[in-house]
Amino acid sequence: MNKILIIGREGQLGSTFHEQTRELSWADFSYTTVDTLNLMDSSAICSFFKDKKFDYLINCAAYTAVDRAETEPAVAWRLNAEAPKELAEEATRMNARFIHISTDYVFGGEHSRPLKPETPQTPDSVYGKSKLQGELEVMQQQPESIIIRTSWLYSRYGKNFLKTMLQLGKKRDSLNVVFDQVGTPTLADDLAEAILTILKKIISGEKEFTPGVFHFSNEGVCSWFDFSKAIFYESGISCKVVPVESDQFPTPASRPAYSVMDKTKIRNTYGIEIEHWQDSLRKCLKKTNG
Ligand SMILES: NC(=O)c1ccc[n+]([C@@H]2O[C@H](COP(=O)([O-])OP(=O)(O)OC[C@H]3O[C@@H](n4cnc5c(N)ncnc54)[C@H](OP(=O)(O)O)[C@@H]3O)[C@@H](O)[C@H]2O)c1
Repeated sequence: MNKILIIGREGQLGSTFHEQTRELSWADFSYTTVDTLNLMDSSAICSFFKDKKFDYLINCAAYTAVDRAETEPAVAWRLNAEAPKELAEEATRMNARFIHISTDYVFGGEHSRPLKPETPQTPDSVYGKSKLQGELEVMQQQPESIIIRTSWLYSRYGKNFLKTMLQLGKKRDSLNVVFDQVGTPTLADDLAEAILTILKKIISGEKEFTPGVFHFSNEGVCSWFDFSKAIFYESGISCKVVPVESDQFPTPASRPAYSVMDKTKIRNTYGIEIEHWQDSLRKCLKKTNG
């Protein structure tokens, strides 16, 4: 049976994988946390993989504090660029396939059409630059890797925009939310399910392993303002949402104004079906509220 290691078990995506793989029997899944594999430490990576053999490594761990990265660039670089390279090296050594997650923040603010995997990347933030460097290191080390860029990830786990809005919306009468940053939310459940579908198709022989950079988000387009309006509407929260421009809401890291991703490649290569963000939001809220 194929052995699949999921790195970063306690993050949003890692927790979602853990939930989704618990009952699966077509592969043998195991997981690491920061306590069992600390990616800050190269020697810990070497000793963890010594004498171990996996068929697939899925890296969900990252430094994701986008604003804090501006003042902690060395840590962001270590976790988002150097550690993925070392994981790709380990994958190569044990002849495993490496699946790495990246971000829409590798793109800069100059776009207005859906971004393809090959669209030139010009990140504006330390986080975006460190994630792009991670992609380059992974592909240099192991060109047979799969890198999946995603955007605006949320789930019922960890910290994310949905959870922040639900907390604030219950306490406040009104909230200012930017309407000039446009993209697509991604429910972590849908991303984890897409990756598991890809792996199952490869393992069963239904699809050939095709490496490269792929984009995955939910379907549709919205601003953070639209997303918060939908969250409150679907949750029956009466908080008013006031649209503001990004310059009224300064943050240490700049974010791309437009980061809608073109998902044609993942759809065509692996036959992945993708839900609209509003349907996925409803699905998430239903699950969150029991
Ligand atoms: N969140 C988003 O909006 C978003 C958008 C686009 C792309 N992405 C990408 O999607 C992937 C998953 O994101 P996510 O939202 O699930 O991230 P997350 O919730 O922040 O989880 C990150 C994980 O990395 C782990 N980690 C941090 N430092 C570590 C270390 N030194 N050693 C080992 N593990 C460490 C964390 O462990 P602890 O919990 O113990 O700290 C956590 O399990 C990442 O590659 C991210 O860049 C995220």
